Parts: sequence; C-alpha cells; structure tokens
Amino acid sequence: MAIKLNDKYLSSFVGEHEYRHIQAQVTEADRLLRTKSGAGSDFLGWVDLPVNYDKEEFARIQVAAKKIQKSCDVLVVIGIGGSYLGARAVIEYLKSPLYNALKKDTPDIYFAGNCISADALNELLQLCEGRDVCVNVISKSGTTTEPAVAFRVFRELMEKKYGKDGAKERIFVTTDKARGTLKQFSTEKGYETFVVPDDVGGRFSVLTAVGLLPIAVAGIDVVALMEGAASARVAYTNPDISKNDCYRYAALRNILYRKGKTTEIMVGYEPFQTMLNEWWKQLYGESEGKDQKGIFPASVIFSTDLHSLGQFVQDGNRNLFETVIDIAETGSRFEIPDDPANVDGLNFLSGKNINYVKKTAMMGTILAHVDGGVPNIIINVDEKSAFVLGELLYFFELACAISGYILGVNPFDQPGVESYKKNMFALLGKPGYEELLEKLEKRLKN
Ligand code: PA5
Repeated sequence: MAIKLNDKYLSSFVGEHEYRHIQAQVTEADRLLRTKSGAGSDFLGWVDLPVNYDKEEFARIQVAAKKIQKSCDVLVVIGIGGSYLGARAVIEYLKSPLYNALKKDTPDIYFAGNCISADALNELLQLCEGRDVCVNVISKSGTTTEPAVAFRVFRELMEKKYGKDGAKERIFVTTDKARGTLKQFSTEKGYETFVVPDDVGGRFSVLTAVGLLPIAVAGIDVVALMEGAASARVAYTNPDISKNDCYRYAALRNILYRKGKTTEIMVGYEPFQTMLNEWWKQLYGESEGKDQKGIFPASVIFSTDLHSLGQFVQDGNRNLFETVIDIAETGSRFEIPDDPANVDGLNFLSGKNINYVKKTAMMGTILAHVDGGVPNIIINVDEKSAFVLGELLYFFELACAISGYILGVNPFDQPGVESYKKNMFALLGKPGYEELLEKLEKRLKN
C-alpha cells in the first residue's frame, strides 16, 4: 500500500496495553461490518463498490464526460453535502484548487446549490455569460432545497439559451434509480440520468456517478481511482490492528477520544488538500456526531493556518489531536533562487527545494505540537496520483465505519440534518408544515 500509518509520535500519549485493550472492540466492529449485522447495514454498498459497480453505467459516465468536454466551456455541478464534496475534493487534489483559472483542454467546473446565496448565484450566472454550459444536477433524494433552487435557475437558463431540445442534450442528472421528483422530472424531460445506488449514502458516494462524472469531465483517470480503492478494499481486511493501518487509525481515534481528545484536526501542508479535508470533515462529522457523542472534525492547511490557529493548537485547550497527511511526492519541484547580495539574509536556503523546506516545517511543527500536548498521527502517502487517492478515499471510508461502530453509533444515518430542514420548510411556508410553522412563529415572537 502507498499509505502508511505512523504512530511513533503517540508514544507519550497511548500505551501498548491500550492498543491491546481496544482490539476486541475493533474485531467486533469488523464483524458487524462484514456480516452486515450492525446499525445502518442497508447502507454498505460502498464496501464492495470498487469492484462491484455497474460497468455499463461506468462506461456511460466516460462517454457523457467526453460529450461534456466537447460541447461546453463550463460545467455547473449542482449538489450539496455528499452530492458535491467528493467530486470537488478529487478535482482540486489531483488537478488544482486553481483548476478553473489554469490553462487546460477541459471545461471549467463550478459548484452550485451548496449554499443559499444570491451573490453566489449571480456571480456564477455572470461567469456563464457568452459561454457554452452543461449542467450536472446531483441529488439522491431529489428534494433537497438548495440544489433544487439552483437547478430551477440553471434549467431556465439552459432552456432560454439552447431551447428545450438543446437543453436536454446538456443536462445530466444523478439521482435515485426510481424514486423522487428529480427522477420523475428527468424521465419526462428526457435528460440522461445516472444512479446513486440505494445502499450508498451521500457521504460514501464519491466513487459512484455522484463523484465520477464531474471527476471524469476534469480529465482525471477514473479507472485508476477505482483501481486504487479496489486495492485498499483487499488490503484492509485483517481485523488485527497491528497489521491493518486503516483499523489502527479507527482504534487510535477512539483511544484518544476517551482521553478527552474530542477534536481531531486533519492537517495538510498543500493547498490542494483543502477540499479533501472538507470531504473528510463531512464523512466523519455526519457519521459519528450523534447521540451526544463524537469527535469534532476540524481541518487546517499549514503553514497558512500556523499563522491563524497555530497558537491555539500549541497552547490552547488540550482537547485536540492532529492527523497529518504527509504526501512524499506531489510531482512538483521549486528551487529557491540564490541572491549574491543576500539582502534578505535567506541564502541559507539558496538552491534548496521548497519541498525540503515544507518537510522541515512539518517535522518542526509535529515535534512542537507533541511537546505542547497534542497527539499526532501521521498518514504517509507515497505520491499524488489518482490510484493512491482512490486508496486514501477508501481508507477513510472504511476507517470511518469501524470507528463509528467502536463509538457505538450508526455511522450511516444522519437524523440531525433533518431538524433544520423541517424548520426551514415550515418557516418558508411549504405545504404540510402548517402546525410546525405555528409553533416556530410563537417561539420566534417570544
Ligand atoms: O451525506 C449525505 O447523505 C448528505 O450530505 C447528502 O448528500 C446531502 O444532504 C444531499 O442530499 P441529496 O443528495 O439527497 O440532495
């Protein structure tokens, strides 16, 4: 595996006997997962997805991606939560956070419907002016308000610009295979549709059409991504945490949590890791934050955030632990130039590769944070590639399931997300919510 867990900086925080004590719980979590007898076992489709996926649809995704690449300058991807974070994470990680601004032969890709903002919508409409546009709307339920509103806006734009028949060729829908308004509507309109499998929840869906269509449009090798995930699926089957880094990560999180380390900070040293961290935050936050339990998932990009949150991590409330993703080979080099006059006193760095400086900053920071009482888990990643990212995505999904079962929650539901939706629907006057509206209005008036 191109991923290795390094826990040597935990030695002053976690004793050997603690690994031994938690092993039985890891074995039980593995049994619940593998025998499909744990909570939420209807949503385990992601476990075998890297090999057991719809091959016909996979081929259709690649054909649709080519069609989008040929026919448009801009792809607008409409979705929220698990219906957009995975695609955005993979595109920014493997291409660039500046993907849209860089020279390329693939369309710009913008994400919409993940907030409620007139500014964001107007700006995106402006960006689409005078350019050929395609739309990929993604919603498993087909009823989520944020993407539904954005889709109404972009459908109108597409029909005005290309006529109903032209729009039909440029709108791609990813939703439930049979249920929901979006599915019905797409069938009526004749849009090409892709499926969010019944047994895969939104935050575990990056390797379904949800993630794969936008990722393929960006020109990323989706076959390599799936192959990487498939290799992780085979590698992480042994429940013994001395032999399974993925399960060891899940175990360590719980050991640290029980010591009062209730916030995990995912640390990256490259700006291209920002959205991967966001994907990870949703995966762990929505899977584990329930029953008044769970580790709060936070994230930082260093060195940037060493100059904003660094003080807190070093010296603030000691309820933190860090997980650092250290990517050995990103594929880029940059040598620091020499200045014969040495006006800035930086010649001790002349000729040094930026990657060397980054690595040094990383090691210095890890040691300082460990000295400050912050346990550091390091995940060593050999290289930045589609294959290895596929491994990493699967690593985190599987660890999340095991960790959630050790914690004693259902890692595959998200009842808490419904509460705000119900209140919002009622306050917006959606039919069927009249009683709740009355109650909420009383509370707001008081
Ligand atoms: O992970 C999840 O299940 C959620 O984040 C959903 O993806 C999100 O709420 C969007 O739901 P939908 O795809 O039904 O519009």
